[in-house]
Amino acid sequence: GLSIAPLLKTTGAVTYDPGFMNTANTKSAVTYIDGAEGILRYRGYPIEQLAEKSSFLEVSYLLIYGELPTQQQLEEFDSLTRRHTLLHEELKNFFSGFPRDAHPMPVLSSAVSALSTYYPDSLDPFDPAQVERSTYRLLAKLPTIAAYAFKKSVGQPMLYPDNSLNLVENFLRGCFGVPAEPFEVDPDIAKALDILLILHADHEQNCSTSTVRLVGSAQANLFASVSAGVNALYGPAHGGANEAVLKMLREIQASDMKPEEFMTKVKNKEAGIRLMGFGHRVYKNYDPRARIVKGLADDLLAKLGGDDELFDIAQRLEAVALEDDYFVERKLYPNVDFYTGLIYKAMGFPEKMFTVLFALGRLPGWIAQWREMMEDGNTKIGRPRQIYTGYSERHYPS
Ligand code: ACO
Repeated sequence: GLSIAPLLKTTGAVTYDPGFMNTANTKSAVTYIDGAEGILRYRGYPIEQLAEKSSFLEVSYLLIYGELPTQQQLEEFDSLTRRHTLLHEELKNFFSGFPRDAHPMPVLSSAVSALSTYYPDSLDPFDPAQVERSTYRLLAKLPTIAAYAFKKSVGQPMLYPDNSLNLVENFLRGCFGVPAEPFEVDPDIAKALDILLILHADHEQNCSTSTVRLVGSAQANLFASVSAGVNALYGPAHGGANEAVLKMLREIQASDMKPEEFMTKVKNKEAGIRLMGFGHRVYKNYDPRARIVKGLADDLLAKLGGDDELFDIAQRLEAVALEDDYFVERKLYPNVDFYTGLIYKAMGFPEKMFTVLFALGRLPGWIAQWREMMEDGNTKIGRPRQIYTGYSERHYPS
């Protein structure tokens, strides 16, 4: 039987809160969410204003340093991140060790983890100058690693970054360019990707960010902590949902099922089917990011000629959900991932890359939260308690 008496004896009362439904793990001044009202703000600025007026680079600065940069600060930050895009030549060998069809997320986390071996001058989590170096190294190199992982997965040669381009343009060229041939950045695609990265840039104590903090609380360096965050994001209940949405839409398309019939299966919880891209631990209202993404999808799919049939299926699923008691009572609305996959697909990214794009966006949030923890002194290692349910003492057979 369950006995919590020994635990009570040693520690006093322990809060049992699986999934951290009601437990705050930290104080933070980075991101504010009001899930009931559907509000999201970075450092006090509403997500809608940032998506409309800012850039991903500027938002990264805002999240990490707490204030919008002056023009000069932004230019310096831009030049710093452009100068550090190259990967160590030996790190390139790393990529050839993976199987050809390797999923780019584990490739990404492995390569980020490996950065610790190349930059011993930026590993001390309590030295501000070293943390600064690992910050711009990560911001500059993650897009290069992601583009290499992409090229690897399609069996094409990797491109050295072209630092006359900005972060987003360089990443697009890294993915879709061909060595020694000029690459024209499509400004509509670059702008849309920039906005999507802004929308993913932080989301307070989500699973991957909490992971980054927990690993960092052991005084692990920034590369090690972010690599753990990438692995957390790989999970289908978190960052993997954008990939899962497209798979679901395609399965509905390939079957004879109408979207309405699929929704009946979801409501009946047949084989545990969930409507991917719907529901959120914190938002019990329309995810404000999803609203912006849907607007982008409307514009961009019209321009790029995306998959109208899949977009139509998605919209029909949403229409059913918004009217249906099952979803209304449980306050299940589209989250940021419901429409992103359709846009990424129209941009030319294969499904395997969708979560990588999420990771690129989430990076400044991970860095900002890790730095906030270190700057606050990081005096406590993260160490949850448990309710022991195993055997009481028993004896090894003699
Ligand atoms: N489809 C159908 N039913 C759902 C869904 C869904 N997508 N999400 C939740 N429910 C139901 C559950 O079955 C449960 O019903 P019950 O009370 O009858 O058992 C109820 O709503 C509450 O669900 P929980 O799983 O307890 O909610 P939780 O906060 O733990 O989960 C999560 C949140 C993981 C996001 C969930 O809604 C889900 O699995 N969604 C689909 C995956 C997804 O889109 N993930 C992306 C998350 S956002 C992000 O990372 C950007």
